[in-house]
Amino acid sequence: MRVSIVNTKGGVGKTTTAVHLATYLSSLASTLLIDGDPQESAATWAAWRRESLVKRSRHLSLTTTCLHGKAIYDEGKSLSKGFVHTVIDAGGRDAPGLRNALLLSEMAIIPIGASNLDAAAMTDLLEVLDLATDYNPKLKVKVLLSRIDPRTKDAKEMLKFLNENNLEVLSARVCERVSFRRAIGEGSTVEELGKDSVAISEMSAFYKEVLL
Ligand SMILES: Nc1ncnc2c1ncn2[C@@H]1O[C@H](COP(=O)(O)OP(=O)(O)OP(=O)(O)O)[C@@H](O)[C@H]1O
Ligand SMILES: [Mg+2]
Repeated sequence: MRVSIVNTKGGVGKTTTAVHLATYLSSLASTLLIDGDPQESAATWAAWRRESLVKRSRHLSLTTTCLHGKAIYDEGKSLSKGFVHTVIDAGGRDAPGLRNALLLSEMAIIPIGASNLDAAAMTDLLEVLDLATDYNPKLKVKVLLSRIDPRTKDAKEMLKFLNENNLEVLSARVCERVSFRRAIGEGSTVEELGKDSVAISEMSAFYKEVLL
């Protein structure tokens, strides 16, 4: 399966979602993580991960590479043939990299916050997705409500907006939790840190839906 994690808006949790999903999939079968963002945050996480795994004498089960622009489609296509799963952290903005990631993938997951600003920023992305599904009709698009504050009703309003735009929303939700920030900073995942059972069950529900 080839999955892109996309949103033109920054800071919504794309890299966090991508590295968690890729790590989980790599526990099931060979997995390639493509960092398609020029900021290379997923590759930075992978470098931290490599350091901490070497210290603990554990081997790396996930392969990470950086590709940009058209190379995400061209090289990504041939590289991904050597793996059962490929996850692409497509980076922000409507850059060629984002469009190439959508062309290569069977599934696009859009992490999105629940604020009005998140909704307003979706106009560009909706246009890109429309075009992408014309070129790649097998692309399934799913929204993941991410970095949600469980104390507010913002998610309800966002759900209404997403329904009006005919976007499929995953039942799994990821709340704003400090354990995600800690995990990323250590080149790890919330599962590997093992300290936040609620975060772990949120992610587990997400993985299940992706694999349905
Ligand atoms: N569920 C969460 N709870 C708390 N913090 C989170 C959560 N998800 C992501 N973060 C933190 O929010 C920040 C942005 O997350 P992340 O880098 O995953 O977003 P992004 O969409 O990839 O951002 P960019 O557009 O810069 O690539 C990071 O500091 C990350 O650790
Ligand atoms: Mg990122």
